Amino acid sequence: MRPFLKASALRYSIRKAHIVDDATISLLPGRLAIIVGPNGAGKSTLLKLLSGELRPTSGEISCCSEPLHLTPAWRLARRRAVMAQATQLAFSFTVEEVVRIGLDTVGVAKKGEELDAIVLRAIRRADILHLVHRKYDTLSGGEQQRTHFARVVSQLEAGRASEGRQALFLDEPVASLDIRYQLALLDAAREIARTGVAVLAILHDLNLAAAYADELIVMQSGKIVAAGDPANVMAGGLIADVFGVDLRLCAAPPRNAVFILPHGHARRVAWRQPNHPEPFQTLIREDSASPQRSELCAIFPRNERVSMPFSLWS
Ligand SMILES: Nc1ncnc2c1ncn2[C@@H]1O[C@H](COP(=O)(O)OP(=O)(O)OP(=O)(O)O)[C@@H](O)[C@H]1O
Ligand SMILES: [Mg+2]
Repeated sequence: MRPFLKASALRYSIRKAHIVDDATISLLPGRLAIIVGPNGAGKSTLLKLLSGELRPTSGEISCCSEPLHLTPAWRLARRRAVMAQATQLAFSFTVEEVVRIGLDTVGVAKKGEELDAIVLRAIRRADILHLVHRKYDTLSGGEQQRTHFARVVSQLEAGRASEGRQALFLDEPVASLDIRYQLALLDAAREIARTGVAVLAILHDLNLAAAYADELIVMQSGKIVAAGDPANVMAGGLIADVFGVDLRLCAAPPRNAVFILPHGHARRVAWRQPNHPEPFQTLIREDSASPQRSELCAIFPRNERVSMPFSLWS
């Protein structure tokens, strides 16, 4: 598969500090790649390099087989949309105006009614129809974030007629969202990826990252220290080392979905099997040879291994 974007040996330095260092990465159409890493690891800076907002100090980036820095701004705006980690607007816009920012230029090939329909679809998708006439700066943090998601979704759809190959960059898009909207936004990001868009998101929630990533990328001190299938990347204790905390990798039945438990900080977790004579069971099976690989596998009394049904107790 031809990548949407290929970056090799990227470095971004400020004075003598390498904020991004030797990063090599490809973004593939149809895939949702998620970057995780500690505060200050260089995630946002890498995203800005890949989206063309910053120019690398050294290294190459090609986008749709041409050097990214040679792509004119108007074409870039049709090829990729960016939801930044923090967005300040200089003027007092309404929600609808924010969603429409730049749309006339990006969607120049579209008629006015088509753009209206695109905007309405994106507004509905972000569940902000009831907010469209509100001033953006009066919205809650989560409502503002959903407004920006509607903006990038509109931008991509408006640009699709003229640029078939596209990417979506999302820097901590769910940071202010409640759990329902976190899942809705990431479902939407995955759906957008499945239409052939290369999607790159930065998340701090490792469990959401494991659940949604087609490719999980881990950054530490400016470098990409791991990349690949989330279950493989998470195995082996790397994540705990990178963040410097006591985390355990777990797998939950029935589909063995991978998740992470902040072990040393966690309350005792117990499971109850309906109708089981001894319902309360602790659950983490320690692997003494390799504690980081300890598995959540529902060992009930008499070492009976139960897969489902479960209900979670605390
Ligand atoms: N313009 C700048 N001048 C000086 N330092 C900078 C600049 N931009 C970024 N940095 C530093 O580079 C490092 C990486 O910043 P970046 O925003 O990429 O981190 P991040 O991984 O996105 O962190 P977070 O999870 O907190 O968002 C940080 O230590 C930051 O302070
Ligand atoms: Mg950041």
